Amino acid sequence: MTIDEKTGKTLAQLGLTDSTGIASLFAEVRAAAEAEAEAFGRGDVDEAEVVWQAKILRDRWLARGRGLIARIDQNWLRQTPKESRGVVGAEFNRLRQYATAQFEIDPLLAAHRQKTLARYEKRRGPDLTLPGNRRELGSIHPVTRVQRELEDIFIGLGFHIETGPEIESVYNNFDALNIHESHPSRDDWDTLYISSDVLLRTHTSPVQIRAMRKYGAPLYIITPGKCYRNENPDATHSAMFSQIEGLAVDADINFADLKGTLDFFAKKFFGEKTRTRFQPSFFPFTEPSGEMAASCPFCGGQGCRTCKDSGWIELMGCGMVHPDVLRNGGIDPERYSGWAFGLGIERFAMLKYDIGEIQNFFQSDVRFLRQF
Ligand code: DAH
Repeated sequence: MTIDEKTGKTLAQLGLTDSTGIASLFAEVRAAAEAEAEAFGRGDVDEAEVVWQAKILRDRWLARGRGLIARIDQNWLRQTPKESRGVVGAEFNRLRQYATAQFEIDPLLAAHRQKTLARYEKRRGPDLTLPGNRRELGSIHPVTRVQRELEDIFIGLGFHIETGPEIESVYNNFDALNIHESHPSRDDWDTLYISSDVLLRTHTSPVQIRAMRKYGAPLYIITPGKCYRNENPDATHSAMFSQIEGLAVDADINFADLKGTLDFFAKKFFGEKTRTRFQPSFFPFTEPSGEMAASCPFCGGQGCRTCKDSGWIELMGCGMVHPDVLRNGGIDPERYSGWAFGLGIERFAMLKYDIGEIQNFFQSDVRFLRQF
C-alpha cells in the first residue's frame, strides 16, 4: 500500500493502534517526504519546469482538504479516539512542521538553487569570474639588475657568459692563477676553506682556467657569479659578493684591445662623457696589471663626496693574462695572448643607484628592495 492509499484510511482500518505501529507509520511518511524533497528538481530542468514541479509538490503535501497532511489530519488524527490521540498528535505535529518547512514554494526553490550551484561547481570547478586573490609582484634585485646590464654590454661586443662553481678547488682558485703559497690572499683570514684542497671561491678568476680548458682559444667570455671571503661586514665589505670576470684570448691581443674595450664599456655604462684611466698595479695572474678608473659619474671629475674629491672612481683590476695562466688553461702563450678584468657588481650597483652601504643588498628589507 502506498502512503497515498494509507492516508485515505483510518488508523483502525490500517490495524494500527499501538504506539510503536503508529510511530513507524509516521516514520514511513517522513521518509517518503524526505525522498520527494531530495528528488525535487533533479536532472536538467529549466526554471519554469522547476516552479511547476514545486507547485505540484506543495499541493501534494500541503493543499487544504486533499493534501497528504490534511488527509493525515482528517483520517488519522481526528478518527483516533480522544484517549489515544496524544501519540498520534505528537507525531502529526512533527510531520506537519517538517512538511511546511520543506514543501512551501520558497524553501523548495531556495533548496533547488543551492543544489544547482553545488552541482555546477562540482562539474565546472570554481567560479572563475570571481575576483582572485591578488599577490604582490616582486621586482628584480638591484644587483641582478646591474649584473644583467653589465652582461648586455659585453654580449653586445660578442662575449659569451660562462659560469663556474662557487665551491672550487684550491688549485683553480689559486695555483693555476699563479697565486703562490706565500701570497697573502691565501691566508685563512681571507679564504673560507671547506677542506685543505676545496674552498669557497674568493673571486671569479678560476672560471678563466675552467673556460680555457673547456673551449681553448680564441675565447671571449664574461663570468658573473658569487664569491666569498672571510670578511667582517662593513659599509663596503661583505662575506658574500658578486663579481664579473672578463677574458679575451686570441692571436695578437694586446693592451690596446683591453683599454679600448673597457673604455667603450665605461662609456656605455656611465655615459658617453666618461673618461677612463689606467694605472699600473699588481695581480699574480696578469702581467702587466692595471687598475682601471672612470671619471666620477656624479661630478664629472670635479670632485665630490662619492669620489672623495679625487674626480675618479676605481672600477676594476685588469691586465694581460700571465703566460703561466694561459699555459695552465692549456693554451700556448707563444701563439695566443689575452687580457682579463675582474669587477665587483655590488660596487657598480652602489654607484649606479647612489647606495652607500653594501649591506643593504643582503638584508632583504622590502622597504629598500621595493625601490627598484
Ligand atoms: N680576481 C681579482 C680580485 O678578485 C680581480 C681581477 C684583477 C681579475 C685583475 C682579473 C684581473 O681578471 O685581470 O681582486
